[in-house]
Amino acid sequence: MDIATTPTTPEGNPELADAARTPVDPPVIRREDYKPFPWLVPGIDLHFDLGLDKTRIVSTLSVERNPDAEPTGELRLDGDGLTPAGVKVDGEPVNDWAMDGSDLVLALSGDSHRVEIATEIDPSANTQLMGLYASNGMLCTQCEAEGFRRITFFPDRPDVLSIYRVRMEGPKEQFPILLCNGNKAAEGEGDNGMHWAEWHDPWPKPSYLFALVAGDLVANSAPFTTMSGRTVECNIWVRKEDLARTDHALESLHRSMKWDEETFGREYDLDLYNIVAVSDFNMGAMENKGLNVFNTKYVLADPDTATDADFDAVEGVIAHEYFHNWSGNRITCRDWFQLSLKEGFTVLRDQLFSQDMRGEAVKRIEDVRILRAAQFPEDAGPLAHPIRPDSYREISNFYTATVYNKGAEVIRMMRSMAGAERFREGTDLYFNRHDGEAATCEDFITAIEDGAGLDLSQFRLWYRQAGTPVVTASVLHSAETTLLTLSQKVPPTPGQPDKQPMPIPLRVAMFDRETGEHSGEQLVMLDAAQKGVNFKGFAKPPILSINRGFTAPVIIDRAVNSEDLVFLASHDDDPFARYEALQELAVRHLVAAASGEDAGDGEAAIVSAFRAILTDDALDDAMRGELMVLPSETYLFEAMATGERKADPGAIHAQREALKAALGRDLASEFHALYDRCEKVGFDDPAGRGARKVKTQVLAYAAASDPAKAAELAAHQFDRADNMTDRQGALMVLCGLDTPERDRTLDAFYDRYAGNALVIDKWFTLQALSLHPDVIAQVEALAGHPDFTIRNPNRVRSLYMAFAGNPQGFHDPDGKGYRMIADLILALDPINPQTAARFVSPLGRWRRIEPGRAALMKAELERIAGADKLSRDTYEQVSRSLEG
Ligand code: TRP
Ligand code: ZN
Repeated sequence: MDIATTPTTPEGNPELADAARTPVDPPVIRREDYKPFPWLVPGIDLHFDLGLDKTRIVSTLSVERNPDAEPTGELRLDGDGLTPAGVKVDGEPVNDWAMDGSDLVLALSGDSHRVEIATEIDPSANTQLMGLYASNGMLCTQCEAEGFRRITFFPDRPDVLSIYRVRMEGPKEQFPILLCNGNKAAEGEGDNGMHWAEWHDPWPKPSYLFALVAGDLVANSAPFTTMSGRTVECNIWVRKEDLARTDHALESLHRSMKWDEETFGREYDLDLYNIVAVSDFNMGAMENKGLNVFNTKYVLADPDTATDADFDAVEGVIAHEYFHNWSGNRITCRDWFQLSLKEGFTVLRDQLFSQDMRGEAVKRIEDVRILRAAQFPEDAGPLAHPIRPDSYREISNFYTATVYNKGAEVIRMMRSMAGAERFREGTDLYFNRHDGEAATCEDFITAIEDGAGLDLSQFRLWYRQAGTPVVTASVLHSAETTLLTLSQKVPPTPGQPDKQPMPIPLRVAMFDRETGEHSGEQLVMLDAAQKGVNFKGFAKPPILSINRGFTAPVIIDRAVNSEDLVFLASHDDDPFARYEALQELAVRHLVAAASGEDAGDGEAAIVSAFRAILTDDALDDAMRGELMVLPSETYLFEAMATGERKADPGAIHAQREALKAALGRDLASEFHALYDRCEKVGFDDPAGRGARKVKTQVLAYAAASDPAKAAELAAHQFDRADNMTDRQGALMVLCGLDTPERDRTLDAFYDRYAGNALVIDKWFTLQALSLHPDVIAQVEALAGHPDFTIRNPNRVRSLYMAFAGNPQGFHDPDGKGYRMIADLILALDPINPQTAARFVSPLGRWRRIEPGRAALMKAELERIAGADKLSRDTYEQVSRSLEG
């Protein structure tokens, strides 16, 4: 392997760095083994001498024995790729220390000491983007989960809280802006063009929340006045050329601050809130105390370069990181098994915020769609784990849709059971009781129980058991009563063969066939394997509307005829239930058709439900646009792979395209009338967003039914677009068509945006996601494009994550798609293991796919497993994918 790609100190030990990539069998860390750290570290002083390829760090820890831990004569500090350049205890150089693997172990006999350690690192060689690294000529950090140990030796675990004082010094011309957590305490000029700044963060924090940024940046600033009347200076820091695209981020921050005061009673606690945008970043953003670091993708937005969905994503991620200030920073996690304590809760908080900003129904549908596309497959596959996992080898692999999104759903269920007001009493108690602590999921559940007055004893199973429960519902009607029978089954998952029934809150309504109305909805708690509920007052069997608002993250399995689903799709007053009825119609039809079963009246029913949706004047277009989206192919694979039956990606794709074509054909005049109406709505019109969404949906159906007409419409939309949403929507459709307009518009788009990395990412993604039959060859060619680089995670994801999410390309029957992703994993693993490991899960789904493709997928996993050297990250994901 190429050692140059792993960061070492110049005089560092290459074997040590190499060892980090050669774990034969990396150790398993278990939740039940938690022990408090034997030392407290109330304070840390850090001195940074900053340079792109050489940064020197001197760290001084004040340590005290932890009265709550077992006594010890040593202090063991985590390191990763570091060699100490000098160690002092209480001011004197000492020699009684040793390296144990990558840990620094130091003999300490007294009750309190000052420990000083010097290290030296090369940020420009840090391609993993964990710890201190260089990006676009600036320096920045990413410490969650275990990146701080790549900067200096430290007890790098979230239950060690310290007050940080930081002095940073560097060349002023190269790094005019020096930022760190907390408040700036002092600054000044040094010799030889150097300058320095001292930062003090008054709030004790774990090392994963440490952050530092040095670079040539400018800020968009505006003050926020908090509920108690304090002024907070808010800054969005970017490169000069990006400044014009930061207003939306700044406004989103202010809205988040206001909303958290009003909705959760949470006030910000520093005088300064800094956000820095970085173009090389492994994830979306990071909630470092007072100094959030963001992927540029979630900061920069203007109508010419960002879609409506991009604007929403910026708002949502800004809110998410801001909300972490309380759910994450003021109250942090005791250990990484508790990750959902901060992530699940913060995702719920950002979802509720976005619902309030943009409308509840549409946001709820979007969130359920994400859950089904990302979390349901995870829960049904070899990587399934509870929202509070029991073990890991590499914690980065557990920043998952399960911990984040299912975690949010689990807390949302608590809220549904308590009601919003009592839930707020629960969260108030949680924030008050655990402020300043490193807490556990158990602490959270207990606080909600005490504050909201719920009994969650059985509900705790949601934290322990993996797998998506399947709820079977049936309605039995007699002259007197209607009996709803519900039963549940939680499927076996790796390491958890047998499951207990969980409490499942389901909002239910029964529609009277005569009146078309229901007499009120109720929250049914399914808290046993089976349960019956009686309803009265129906002359004919009523129509069941169940899991309204998606109150529980479960799969509903019920015998219902198409006619009743068409009724619900057209008339249900719960917008989610309406969406759901249409999805159910489509899933049933497509799975039956793909399995070669008689699909019956399925297609006709879908056409008639669609007609109702296209022509319903009471629907706003934003909602109409959601309802028009057919279930994703990944979700259909899950629905098809039940019992002994496996998913057939080729058949699902063909049937789904055929259904789109049938809809486009049968409803051509409705679609075109809708398009014509929406085309007249201006960009700034409040109805504009919905209109844009509907237009692109119409083009997608037209592309399946009448490609020539679609090409003409899409090219026209592209040419006259005054915003990115219309432009990207049109180009998406054109990318899938065999038309000269495809190349013309792709080239025009590229030329217009050359040099704008985020838009060029879109250009890659549109082609990688396209329905074009030559997509594999196109992606291969794009990998050789001068703008492609494996070093930038956004660019890698823009091409390969998009491709892995393109079922037609990825599931190529000859296995070319699988091979391409496996090749990428092998090439990326030595450079950025965290990002490489994220590409394993698409291949890991092999057990649910038909045997021919499954064998090809498994063979690629085995090829990766057989590589000479693998990171802990990729090793863990590949071995679980082969075992599970
Ligand atoms: N805590 C971050 C968030 O959810 C996630 C995150 C950002 C992260 N960067 C990371 C997690 C790097 C692991 C590694 O807001
Ligand atoms: Zn988060």
